[in-house]
Amino acid sequence: RAFLYRLWKGNVSSKMLNPRLQKAMKDYLTANKHGVRFRGKREAGLSRAQLLCQLRSRVRVRTLDGTEAPFSALGWRRLVPAVPLSQLHPRGLRSCAVVMSAGAILNSSLGEEIDSHDAVLRFNSAPTRGYEKDVGNKTTMRIINSQILTNPSHHFIDSSLYKDVILVAWDPAPYSANLNLWYKKPDYNLFTPYIQHRQRNPNQPFYILHPKFIWQLWDIIQENTKEKIQPNPPSSGFIGILIMMSMCREVHVYEYIPSVRQTELCHYHELYYDAACTLGAYHPLLYEKLLVQRLNTGTQGDLHRKGKVVLPGFQAVHC
Ligand code: C5P
Repeated sequence: RAFLYRLWKGNVSSKMLNPRLQKAMKDYLTANKHGVRFRGKREAGLSRAQLLCQLRSRVRVRTLDGTEAPFSALGWRRLVPAVPLSQLHPRGLRSCAVVMSAGAILNSSLGEEIDSHDAVLRFNSAPTRGYEKDVGNKTTMRIINSQILTNPSHHFIDSSLYKDVILVAWDPAPYSANLNLWYKKPDYNLFTPYIQHRQRNPNQPFYILHPKFIWQLWDIIQENTKEKIQPNPPSSGFIGILIMMSMCREVHVYEYIPSVRQTELCHYHELYYDAACTLGAYHPLLYEKLLVQRLNTGTQGDLHRKGKVVLPGFQAVHC
C-alpha cells in the first residue's frame, strides 16, 4: 500500500518497483527496438498550468490522411473517412469519460457515473456486457491496437464490440516515423484488415493514428520525466486521454491512477494477474501516470475512492 499512497502524491520512482519489472524496463532500454533518439530537452518541474499550456500548444491529433507516401499512391485519400477525427465534433464535446480496463474497476459501481458523460472512450476488447454496474454500457469511441485487427481470437470483423463506435487503431512504428519503413514492416499488419473494413463499412468512422502523433506524446513524457523512460510508444490509455483532451471540454479518467481497489488483476474482464499491466514493462506506463497525476484537477477523495482523475480539455485551458 505504501507505493499506492506515494503514487497518489506523484512521489514514486521506478526504483520502487519489484525487481522483475525493473529488469524488464532495463531490457527494453537496451533493446531500443524502435530506434528512439531523444533530442528534446528535459523540463524541470513545470507547474500544472505550464504543463497544460505545453500540451495544448503541441499536441495535435493526427491520423493517416492518405496524402503521404506510400499511402498516397495506394489510393488512401479516398479510403480514409472524408471527415477527419478532429472534425467529428467540431464544437467539442462537453464532458467525456475515459474508462481504463484495469481489474481495479471491479466492484466500483461507477457505471452510472460513466454513462452520464457525453462520450465514453474504451480500449481494445474491453466489454461492457455483464459489467454494466462497474463500467457502464455506453461506448462512443474505441482505441484498438494492431493486434486486435490481426489476431483472429478477437473476431474484429464480426464482434459487436467494434460496431457503431468510432474506431481509432494504432501500431508501433519506427521513431523516425518513416511511413515507407513502417508500411513494409509494421509490428502487426493492420493495413490489410483496415482496407477491408473501410471497404465493407464506409460509413463507420475508422482512423489509423499517425506515428508522428504517437512519438510526439512519447517526447512530451520524456521531456517531463527525470528518469530515462522505456523507448516504446505510450500505452493506449495515455494516447486516449490526450485524444479526449483535444475533443472535450472536460475529461474524467477512471482507474488509470489506481484507487484503493488496486489489484494485480490485469483486466476486469480476464482472469490474468500481472503488476506490469498497471505499472508498465513495455510501455512507459508509470511515467505516463505520474504526468497525468500532475495534471489532475479533481479531488483526492475521488482519486482514492473512484480512481478518478479530472482534466480540462484544451479548449478550457487558457494560456
Ligand atoms: O491492456 P489494454 O491496453 O487493453 O488496456 C487499456 C489501457 O488501460 C492501457 O493502455 C493502460 O493505459 C490502462 N490500464 C491500466 N492498468 C491496467 C490495465 C490497463 O492502467 N491494469
